Amino acid sequence: MSNSPVFLDLKKLSEKSILRLFDVAQEIEHRNSLELLKLPPAALVFFEPSTRTRLSFEMACGRLGLASVVLSGKSGTSLEKGESFEDTVLNVAAMKPSIMIVRAKDEIQMDRLASKVGVPWINAGWGKVGHPTQALLDALTIRKFRGHLAKERVLFVGDVQHSRVVSSHLELAKILGYEISFCGPKEFLFEKQSAQGLDINAFENLQAGLEWATVVIALRVQTERHEHHQDPIKYHAQWGLNSKTLQFLSPEALILHPGPVNHGVEIDSQVFYDPRCRVFQQVTQGVFLRQALISLFLKNPEDLL
Ligand code: CP
Repeated sequence: MSNSPVFLDLKKLSEKSILRLFDVAQEIEHRNSLELLKLPPAALVFFEPSTRTRLSFEMACGRLGLASVVLSGKSGTSLEKGESFEDTVLNVAAMKPSIMIVRAKDEIQMDRLASKVGVPWINAGWGKVGHPTQALLDALTIRKFRGHLAKERVLFVGDVQHSRVVSSHLELAKILGYEISFCGPKEFLFEKQSAQGLDINAFENLQAGLEWATVVIALRVQTERHEHHQDPIKYHAQWGLNSKTLQFLSPEALILHPGPVNHGVEIDSQVFYDPRCRVFQQVTQGVFLRQALISLFLKNPEDLL
């Protein structure tokens, strides 16, 4: 066991530390001068595919003057020769990076590994368990465009069951005081409805959910995690966000999606032209949020955790 700081979830964060993180991210957005961290490179170890999270962490490191080395997937690594994930992590840690930023599937015991390696560690998406930086960047985006978070009504539409983003939002909503409801096929919802001791409301139809929401977050249908595939046309007809269904959403509301998007399934491509849609702004806020997180985490982890 090591004493290096570990950022796996949001459960122990206080409202004060999260709001400080958001303020630092906001400050980063508005100032031009870049902070340079004179530290060894960061190691980004991504055992699962990623575009936004990996590049956004790389971008954040670059903006901090922190070099980064990246392991992305199996190809070209000794994982192809049968080396285990654990040995891979231990070998990367032995190179003494300033921080490890790791994405892994459920089967990897990220908590055990993180406490073993003796290097500061950030969870960049762990199976269905959690994706804390995605929930934080969503919340930062909501605060930026709605002006506040407390009492916001956030509706998740779709594949709630497989969503690590939802898992992290359930932790964050408890701290920041926003409401969460679900909407989607019953088989996508049941597992998380009583999660975290919260009794989450689920709307039986999309119209009712959209009429309630101040923020709607569409979720990717994670076909790779399903045994029985949804018919995408039928799915879109019942649960898809499009110009027809979005008539039921307030003109001041926000439309978000963590990405990647299945166009025409959970969301129609035209929705990206809707002024309420802030999907690309989420990605932008993600860089500032991760830059703020790395900076605070490496300089004063005790102020954050
Ligand atoms: N939102 C998100 O985690 O996207 P990536 O899988 O592309 O990183």
